[in-house]
Amino acid sequence: MSPAEQKFRTVKGMMDIMPPESHLWQMVEDTAKRIFCTHSYHEIRTPIVEYTELFRRGVGEDTSVVEKEMYSFIDQGEDNLTIRPEGTASVVRAYIESGASINEPMTRYYYMGPMFRRERPQKGRFRQFYQIGLELLGVTDPAADAEIVAMTWQFLTAIGLKGSIKVELNSIGCKECRPKFNEKLVGFLSKFEDCLCEDCKRRIVKNPMRIFDCKKEACKARLKDAPRISKYWCEGCRTHFDKVQAILTNVSIPFVINETIVRGLDYYVSTAFEFISDNLGAQSAVGGGGRYDGLVRSLGGPDVAGVGIALGMERIILLLNETGKKTEFLPDTFFAVLGEKAKLTAFPIIENLRSQGLTIDWDYGAKSLKAQMRRAGKVGAKKVVIIGDTEIEKNIAIIKNMDTGMQQEINLSDICQNLSRHSGTDSDIKGTL
Ligand code: HAM
Repeated sequence: MSPAEQKFRTVKGMMDIMPPESHLWQMVEDTAKRIFCTHSYHEIRTPIVEYTELFRRGVGEDTSVVEKEMYSFIDQGEDNLTIRPEGTASVVRAYIESGASINEPMTRYYYMGPMFRRERPQKGRFRQFYQIGLELLGVTDPAADAEIVAMTWQFLTAIGLKGSIKVELNSIGCKECRPKFNEKLVGFLSKFEDCLCEDCKRRIVKNPMRIFDCKKEACKARLKDAPRISKYWCEGCRTHFDKVQAILTNVSIPFVINETIVRGLDYYVSTAFEFISDNLGAQSAVGGGGRYDGLVRSLGGPDVAGVGIALGMERIILLLNETGKKTEFLPDTFFAVLGEKAKLTAFPIIENLRSQGLTIDWDYGAKSLKAQMRRAGKVGAKKVVIIGDTEIEKNIAIIKNMDTGMQQEINLSDICQNLSRHSGTDSDIKGTL
């Protein structure tokens, strides 16, 4: 095959987001922004590439993400860099680097963007995926954990996913109580270590609790009678978790306690949560997060608390598609233009209308009137403006209402006024969300 014949494809596990689906993405993002703003969260945009050490230290050397899923490389300047696998470490780095951790310890951020993990692709799991994330720094109060959960719930409700999502909570303990639980768990697991998968054998040594993440039926079966973390919570963790639950109950957010939620990243302490759907197959988590007091300090900042969550956009879109949510992008008006003179005349009118906020489509006068009318119907235009040589001679245009089929002649100089008066600016993107 000659180079010119070579067909390029997206990299495995990565995909294009094409219209019309991109309209659905925009709708989700716009809703998220609106809700996060009402909670006084501010957007943060961090670079996609960071020093690898940030994730090693932030996410943890012994996590699957850092051990085997990061896209890391040495650049031409010998720097060891990584394309971000998640957002929290970068946000905390920026929080410290910008001085916010000292000047405004209580800070609320949201972010949206692509993350990269070299996982085995399957339904809902990609190598490039988008996250919508929230991070609330500097607050130890349980109301902070509750706010993150409540805000996520409000967002998922606003996009129409309330009925498809379960909220699951756990407390994974702190450096005081977790070691006691781990000790008990290791004692329990040692009885049948040989029956566990190789990953779980490694987990026993590195992070026993993460054994609850194992998807293998044989390991899951062994864990049925495993000790439960709730028995080992210290007074601080128990009280904190009780308060989180009380606040969420008070705002009527339905949640269940799931003591097998352990989270796959090392920075979590105490509260952990996941938003789960039964309609996603094996990759059931639409979002996950929790408290990460200690992370700011371990990345070189002051001893400041943190709590946050990230939601997977592709999984949200999969669910929206399954529930039949659709968005439409309907132009207000289509311009059917016939001939060079008409094109010259129409161009400033089209630009004028667009500058007033109307959505105008046209196909540059390249085809017959019939073909242009067909396209106008296909794109769902409510009105068509027809301008050809005859109309130019008479200094008019024809406006056709596509719903009623009625046609009207109008002076060229009155088109802008006529269309803006009748159409308003209400029709950019119409959706069902
Ligand atoms: P995470 O649980 O690793 O947490 O990811 C959060 C969400 O991102 C998941 O629930 C899932 O919806 C989505 N996700 C993760 N990996 C993939 C993938 N390979 N393909 C598609 N979607 C994926 C974090 O990333 C933490 N930084 C969340 C957080 C923020 N914790 C505190 N603040």
